[in-house]
Amino acid sequence: MPFPPAFLEELAARNPIEEVVGQYVQLTRKGANLFGLCPFHSEKTPSFSVAPEKQIYYCFGCHKGGGVINFIMEREGLDYPDAVRFLAKRAGMEVPEDASRAAGYRRQERLLSLCRDAARFFHERLLAPEGQAARAYLEQRGLSRRTVTRFGLGYSPDAWAQLLDAMTARGYEKQELLEAGLAVRSKKGGLYDRFRNRLMFPIIDIRGSVIGFGGRVMDDSTPKYLNSPETVIFNKRKNLFAMNIARKSRQGRIILTEGYMDAIALHQYGFDCAVASLGTSLTEEHAAMLARYTKQVVITYDGDAAGQNATQRAISMLERTGVQVRVLRMRGAKDPDEFLKKYGADRFRLLLEQSEDHVAYRLESLRQQFDLGRDDQRVAFLQQAAQLVGSLPGPVEREIYGARAAEMAGVTAEAMKLEADKARRQQLAREKKRREQRDLAPAYAAQPQDRSIRYDNVRSAMAEEGVLRQVLREPALFERCARELPEHFSSPLLARIFTLLRDRYEAGMTVSPGALEGVLQPEELRHLSAVVQRDEGLVSDQALDDCVARIEEEYQKAHVAGTGDLQAFRQRLLEKKGYGG
Ligand code: UTP
Ligand code: MN
Repeated sequence: MPFPPAFLEELAARNPIEEVVGQYVQLTRKGANLFGLCPFHSEKTPSFSVAPEKQIYYCFGCHKGGGVINFIMEREGLDYPDAVRFLAKRAGMEVPEDASRAAGYRRQERLLSLCRDAARFFHERLLAPEGQAARAYLEQRGLSRRTVTRFGLGYSPDAWAQLLDAMTARGYEKQELLEAGLAVRSKKGGLYDRFRNRLMFPIIDIRGSVIGFGGRVMDDSTPKYLNSPETVIFNKRKNLFAMNIARKSRQGRIILTEGYMDAIALHQYGFDCAVASLGTSLTEEHAAMLARYTKQVVITYDGDAAGQNATQRAISMLERTGVQVRVLRMRGAKDPDEFLKKYGADRFRLLLEQSEDHVAYRLESLRQQFDLGRDDQRVAFLQQAAQLVGSLPGPVEREIYGARAAEMAGVTAEAMKLEADKARRQQLAREKKRREQRDLAPAYAAQPQDRSIRYDNVRSAMAEEGVLRQVLREPALFERCARELPEHFSSPLLARIFTLLRDRYEAGMTVSPGALEGVLQPEELRHLSAVVQRDEGLVSDQALDDCVARIEEEYQKAHVAGTGDLQAFRQRLLEKKGYGG
């Protein structure tokens, strides 16, 4: 029995390939990829790569490759269904083996559709006459119409059952509104709308589904924000507000804020990489998700004590994932929203560029905890600073920050180095012991097998591979490709992959090679992994157009008598539907 697509999506989301593979192979980041020693053949220099963004692995040595399920099949020697069960267990998920589980997934889909309809309802109410006060509030907060549309902001009417009535009229059960956290049961047993007379912020997950809401009052009453409760579709530990937009940003970093309004203001001022952690402290799941989409996270929590404590916690969460962590210190405003309004985007950009790396930030925070005029406190400071410096991976970093800590405490850099080295030795010994305890099974025997897929027209196929690489890195490029493009591919496999990916793109699903696991045969997915890992050139309209032109040239040679008009063909294959405008 095939597993339901929604289940497989969730399985993949909860088992990021870098995490799963990371349990078997020690991986180090190099650009967009992670590298390690291949678990499938013996080698001394790492040729085994994992691409978190594409959710695949590929070994340049033995040419094994595929998605996370395939990795488990190979590594644990399981068949497909058992590998799925293995990963489900790892992520604490139940496998929909029977009708009742499958029904559970259908239920989830109903709730997602309900939330989407509720978001539309709130948005319409905002634009209706009764939304007048809410619109005025938004204006007073400086949010533009464009921002309101972009985030799908809305207004929940000042009434007890408007949403309930509207949604039941659309065919949803009252019970479903309760399950989605949109309705509350009164003491007498009746249901009423949870959100009333509030400005509504839809919370959208990484796949673009509305999973919950935040609702803000428009005066000083409390609670300021009311949020959806945890439901089967909304898990606060796993979702970040605006991540669905920020994941596509090209700004090369993600800005982490505390509040809805901060994230939204940043987007309005051009920082399309801002997300908000929804008032909860950053979880391991959040950190892992951020690390999957960016190499640098800049924390811009509020300047108050609570914000600074949250910053410390966020740093340690993020640091473990290997992303570069920076901290932005704001003066003259309590949060990014206020800062932008007072000083504008340029000043904020400056702060962003000057944001401290987290070591400097932590050293400075540490210093503030001690009175360095007193000898006993200086010793305590030095011990903690030594732990911090000793934990840094690079010798240069250790030297630089060691010297800085020494200077703070007024001791020599040599004395500091002795302390830091000692702390480091202890940490490494502890780490080694931990690793021995969870010692792993011996590596697989090497069994390279080359069943590589053959191309009839290599010249065209290379260009077809190029198209796939481009759309996989920038799915919006699908908009630039004509419908019939895959029909002109020389390789049936590449054409099928293109179509499968485009269907996912059009359905608003994740577009990654790893997502085709279970749809493609393992050797087909392995081939695709090889294709996408081979090249890391630039994504551009031009690069795509060049590939398309080449495909068309080859197609024409094979299918069209005479030379014809090349230009016309190229034109036809590139629908200029305003992509990139
Ligand atoms: P803030 O109080 O800093 O709110 O709470 P804010 O985002 O800056 O909003 P404005 O500028 O006052 O309008 C930060 C975040 O904490 C959560 C919300 O996610 C909020 O965005 N929060 C805050 C709640 O969930 N409930 C509350 O009552 C308050
Ligand atoms: Mn605020």
